[in-house]
Amino acid sequence: MNKAPLLEELLKYHEEENLILSMPGNKSGKAFLRDSLGRKFKESLGALDITEVDPLDNLHCPEGVIKEAEELLAKTYNVKKAYFLVNGSSSGNLASIFSAFNEGDEVLVERNCHKSIYNGLILRKLKVIYIDAVIDEEIGIFLPPSEKEINEALNKASNPKGIIITSPNYFGVSYDIENKINELKEKGIKVIIDSAHGAHFGISKELPKSLAKLGDYVVLSAHKTLPSLTQGAYLLVNDNEEKNIDFYIKAFMTTSPSYLIMASLDYARYYLDNYGEYDYGNLIERAEKWKEKINSLNKVKIIDDRDLADNYTIDRSRYLIILNKGYSGHKLLNYLRDNKIQAEMSFSQGVVLILSPSNIEEDFGKLYLSIANLDISLLKTDEKNTIFPHISPVKVLEPYEIFSLNSVDINIEDSLERIAKEAIIPYPPGIPLICAGEKITKEAIDIIKEYFDNRLKVIGVHYNTIKVIEK
Ligand SMILES: Cc1ncc(COP(=O)(O)O)c(C=O)c1O
Repeated sequence: MNKAPLLEELLKYHEEENLILSMPGNKSGKAFLRDSLGRKFKESLGALDITEVDPLDNLHCPEGVIKEAEELLAKTYNVKKAYFLVNGSSSGNLASIFSAFNEGDEVLVERNCHKSIYNGLILRKLKVIYIDAVIDEEIGIFLPPSEKEINEALNKASNPKGIIITSPNYFGVSYDIENKINELKEKGIKVIIDSAHGAHFGISKELPKSLAKLGDYVVLSAHKTLPSLTQGAYLLVNDNEEKNIDFYIKAFMTTSPSYLIMASLDYARYYLDNYGEYDYGNLIERAEKWKEKINSLNKVKIIDDRDLADNYTIDRSRYLIILNKGYSGHKLLNYLRDNKIQAEMSFSQGVVLILSPSNIEEDFGKLYLSIANLDISLLKTDEKNTIFPHISPVKVLEPYEIFSLNSVDINIEDSLERIAKEAIIPYPPGIPLICAGEKITKEAIDIIKEYFDNRLKVIGVHYNTIKVIEK
């Protein structure tokens, strides 16, 4: 008999009965068990994989139940128009970029934005002004840019047509930029907010404010935090001038959308409307109680707003667990996995856990016990906690110009003044030191060498060589 390696491994993983504190937000289907509608959905998953037959409507031309479901979605988030996406927030970011901007427009973009945004910059041939990230050296993470970094980018721009921001970031941290964004919108600047990690924001007063109405386009990965299947996302549109968003959504979406994903998106919205406020209020109460207990073990620290700089807020439906310097977040992720707890991600000094209202007391108890039993010395690392200082890179070519140029591999020692073909991203903190199209400076070379001397990872450098544009 031949093997089915992926399916077999997936079933094995499922049989391990891991506590899922990562995506997706449906938590192995547990989040659908909230009521009889969700239970029926989960029980019938196999049978509900259907296509566009009457009376199930058509995502590409919604006139019936999909139209109604999308109208309800717009009402929930209180926006002009709302769309189901079956290709994740990635497709929402692409459609938004194409709808908001024309070829050659100048836009402000965070240096550490998601890959799908970089892809959009290339495909739409945009001119880019990067917004610097803020680094919190104490806990070894990057924070979203504040007004200061946005203003600095604005000063470098000649005729900015838009801004693309990520809020919250991967760690669940956001910065209050409402005033700044409103000021930019009044000047006619289009605003795209990649809020992939914030689909649940605003549903309870215990959570950060929703950004749904703030952007001209707001993209939410329902599948990351809500009871939705993987790939399910929402695009919210407030742009009064948009003409072609329907076209671009179709262009970036399969013509065979999964009814399972769409139905789960419908359920996630229904869940927010009917149970969101109550359930998230309860979750935060549980999460705060157990946070205190876990922190009192004095082994790890789960961060809250007081640990961050002013005006930064953390999503309290996440645990951002930080270790003392000299201890490895990657080892902590592996330890939790050995204890059948699946973390969302690790970074040099900690891990991120994504909680859900479906996480009951017992789940928190399991996490508490595994931290209580942790021999912290096992997480020791001699990895240095280097974080590179702020540098001022010089952009020579736009991402789309770089894309079609030939490259050569050269030793970093010989790369001075050459133009990078690919981003060079040291970890920590995972922000591009050099973006594709920027000049490699002496300062950057020294930083890369320091990372290697400390045996740290630098993405974009392979065996001391980097890809630069051919002369
Ligand atoms: C900030 C951010 N934006 C966009 C995306 C893309 O989302 P999706 O996986 O739903 O396409 C991700 C995925 O990890 C993300 O973290």
